[in-house]
Amino acid sequence: MKALVLAAGSGTRLRPVTHTGAKQLVPVANKPVLFYALEAIAQAGITEVALVVGPSSDDIKDAVGDGSAFGIDVTYICQDVPLGLAHAVLISQDFLGGDDFLMYLGDNFVGGGIAGFAEEFRRTRPGAQILLTPVPDATAFGVAELDGDGRVVCLEEKPAVPRSNLAVMGVYLFSAQIHEAIREIKPSARGELEITHALQWLIEEGREVRSCLHSGYWRDTGNVSDMLEVNRHVLDAATGEIAGEVDAESRLTGAVLIAPGARVVRSDIEGPAVIGPGTVVTGSRIGPHTSIAADCEITDSRIDGSIVLQGSTVRGVPAVTASLIGRHTTVTSAPAGDTAHRLVLGDHTRVTLAR
Ligand code: DAU
Repeated sequence: MKALVLAAGSGTRLRPVTHTGAKQLVPVANKPVLFYALEAIAQAGITEVALVVGPSSDDIKDAVGDGSAFGIDVTYICQDVPLGLAHAVLISQDFLGGDDFLMYLGDNFVGGGIAGFAEEFRRTRPGAQILLTPVPDATAFGVAELDGDGRVVCLEEKPAVPRSNLAVMGVYLFSAQIHEAIREIKPSARGELEITHALQWLIEEGREVRSCLHSGYWRDTGNVSDMLEVNRHVLDAATGEIAGEVDAESRLTGAVLIAPGARVVRSDIEGPAVIGPGTVVTGSRIGPHTSIAADCEITDSRIDGSIVLQGSTVRGVPAVTASLIGRHTTVTSAPAGDTAHRLVLGDHTRVTLAR
């Protein structure tokens, strides 16, 4: 069995961070969300992996390399324009050949891995197998209707009125039958070749599309609030470790990970929290549920429930919450007596100022 990991796409809901980097590389507990997917694939015993990336995805190639760090062998396939999940399969046919394959959307975070899901497919070998989970509002997802035996009888993409509360997660298993289906479907109203439509074609042709229910944690990290929520979830399971320097005037509570080369001076860190290598925290309160990446400077500030990416500075800011701060960004307070905000914001940035 091979794996196809989809990491192209434009990431519009995570702008401006995705103007300068792939959304699949946004870190959760200081590790790119894509790495959790690659680890789960390796754990499922799959070693031949192709990563579908956009034309300006050098950052993904730099981060993942040949895959040896994950125990897998990675090939890159360039998708010039994100024309849909089924289009990504279409352009990957040379790599996939006639083999069974796992398709994993690189922005999905699946708690508990996918080894059992892959095992079930290897045992029963249906035409296709999808992973489903109940959600309160299924309108933002592919939605499945099942018969009493777990067979999928109908699939719809982002329906206004869902037939069930079962969302299609971004992890699929396919036999070579899917290629036949993809050749038959037409682009959807949003101009994409939808994998949901290819699966529906298989169902209508009488092929077997089975499902597994996922009862563990799952999030599509496509927007900021879901990204912060996954960060919270992963940090909740983290254990603390102090490899960097913490001075005698600082106080750490709960699970706090201070990476080698990080320094904490006159600060309170409330876990769960992680402070990346080379970061210096001075006179600040960090956490809970906060990930500060490498080489940041946090001075005289208070940050909780947030993700700060590499090389950023937060200085003299009394309360930052529920925020995603991109790389090499500076957030500072105005000089005393100055009541106006001075902003230099990238395109598609959102700022919420306290009154
Ligand atoms: O997350 C689960 C949902 O993923 C499913 O419930 C939906 O049925 C499925 O269509 C998909 O919906 P999204 O709207 O969330 O897909 P999105 O466009 O965000 O793309 C998902 C990932 O695939 C993302 O990492 C980018 C990548 N991608 C996307 C497209 C459209 C590609 O690599 N190429 C593409 O052409």
